[in-house]
Amino acid sequence: MTGTNPANNSPQLPVRAPNATPDQGLHDTASDVVREIPDLSSVSATLKTVQSFIRSPLDVLQWIAAETGDLAKFALPFGSTYIVTSDSEIISQVLGYTDKGSSTNDRFDKSPLLVEGSGWVIGDDNILVASNKKWNNERKFLGKFFGRSRYEDAALISQFDDAVLESRDTLAKKIALDSQGSTLIELQKELSVLALRTTMKTIFDIHDTPLNELEEVVHHSRVIHTVFPLETLIPGDIPFDSLKWFSSRAADVVESREYLKTFAEKIMSKVEANPDNTSFVRPLLMRNIDRSEAMEHILTIAFAGHETSGNNLSWTMTAILQNAVIRERVQQEINQIDLSTPLALSELIERLPYTGCAIEEGLRMYPSVYLLIRRATEEVEIPTRTGTITIPDKSEVFLNIFNAQRDESVWGIEKTGYPADKFCPERWSKENIAARGLTSSDLDLFTFGGGSRTCIGMHSFKALALLTISHYMKRFDMTCDFSLSQSDVVSDFTLQRNGGFPTVVKSLES
Ligand code: HEM
Repeated sequence: MTGTNPANNSPQLPVRAPNATPDQGLHDTASDVVREIPDLSSVSATLKTVQSFIRSPLDVLQWIAAETGDLAKFALPFGSTYIVTSDSEIISQVLGYTDKGSSTNDRFDKSPLLVEGSGWVIGDDNILVASNKKWNNERKFLGKFFGRSRYEDAALISQFDDAVLESRDTLAKKIALDSQGSTLIELQKELSVLALRTTMKTIFDIHDTPLNELEEVVHHSRVIHTVFPLETLIPGDIPFDSLKWFSSRAADVVESREYLKTFAEKIMSKVEANPDNTSFVRPLLMRNIDRSEAMEHILTIAFAGHETSGNNLSWTMTAILQNAVIRERVQQEINQIDLSTPLALSELIERLPYTGCAIEEGLRMYPSVYLLIRRATEEVEIPTRTGTITIPDKSEVFLNIFNAQRDESVWGIEKTGYPADKFCPERWSKENIAARGLTSSDLDLFTFGGGSRTCIGMHSFKALALLTISHYMKRFDMTCDFSLSQSDVVSDFTLQRNGGFPTVVKSLES
């Protein structure tokens, strides 16, 4: 369906996202209605907004949502137009348009929406931020490597087990040394180290990284993530040297970047030295890509997964531990499962159905990557049930995943049987979904993104989450003496909690 956009007389693009699946929505009846995007520029083009954004982007996104609802447009002094939305239908469409052009040959030149990000730390060709043919090639390769079938291999799951048990036993030893018989930990740090240890063993096939090195990597990644709001707001790459004008942590960031690069170099050397190494790196090098590019992939995989996983698991475990009824159900389920022999991911999911629902609910309420960004390379018309939205060329599109996944009209009582603002694992049970005439794909969960750029670490995260919750809750009594209220949510790259996740841990067995 093409024609003229009545708002500006420019040629209208097809209303269906190219290659969109049928349920991504073609809403013919509304296609000639143009929805005006409320404009916030007059109040928002101030340094104050920029400063708040740098402090906590989510606060600004929520302020915008409170002012205008689920769709807004504004301009900042840098000259770009920003479109901000927390409307699930628009988010789904935008993800469907990303990296989809009108023909296969020049697909990336013609793609109306590209992933926006910078190669500051990892490099410009890495799979996370590249939007070109190179991304397409490497995505195919890495997508296959990280495909669902990989997690049906019991030998691989036993490596996940090794990583989780090594972390669990280290913690048990720490408790044993404490005269009180308990220890206070920062749960997000504990679980990020655990996730990185898992990455080292299950992805890089490296099994001897010392604890202090894992802790250093977690620390330096955290430092880098604190400056994420800056690179988000300013389109394109900020020259690294200019960082000091914006951030008092500039020196720390430079040091952390160097540390992470040295760590990735160590991974590369170990892989190169071992002809039997089973990671994706050797086959990648055999595909004639040069070493520096392979290094970018190592950096990406090493750093994309551990903080996101550790962060989301901290929110989820805390939500489970703080609700006596949910905690009891999870505990009963994991007490019944024998984890002494490794189970493939599908079996774990089958035998831990309620824990699996709690993990899905944690992904919904606490999406570590709460903000996704796209850059328009031409004007794009996005069809919705209530009218067409025009996204101007060169605008930055901010997708507010946090609000979308707490929207009562999408996730609330009417659709799922449970309020959207409450942590209710039952929402995800097969019985509940079937009783409402839904399938799980009718629920718009964007925590792992969507469309062609969906996270490749999704299955890896699910195996990690099921094993961590079950091994830790079987072995430890964990208490978090704080409440999870929305006012404590702060954000940089991931969704942080003001005050962190201080947790007292006791052993259940001697
Ligand atoms: C809870 C854990 C995780 C969350 C919430 C998460 C979230 C995301 C999101 C939202 C995206 C899409 C970004 C966009 O569209 O702009 C993404 C992409 C990606 N993730 Fe994850 N991720 C997680 C774990 C992992 C793990 C464990 C790995 C590594 C194995 C990983 C590797 C990647 C890679 C390589 C991409 C880029 C894919 C592409 O652009 O083609 N992630 N992740």
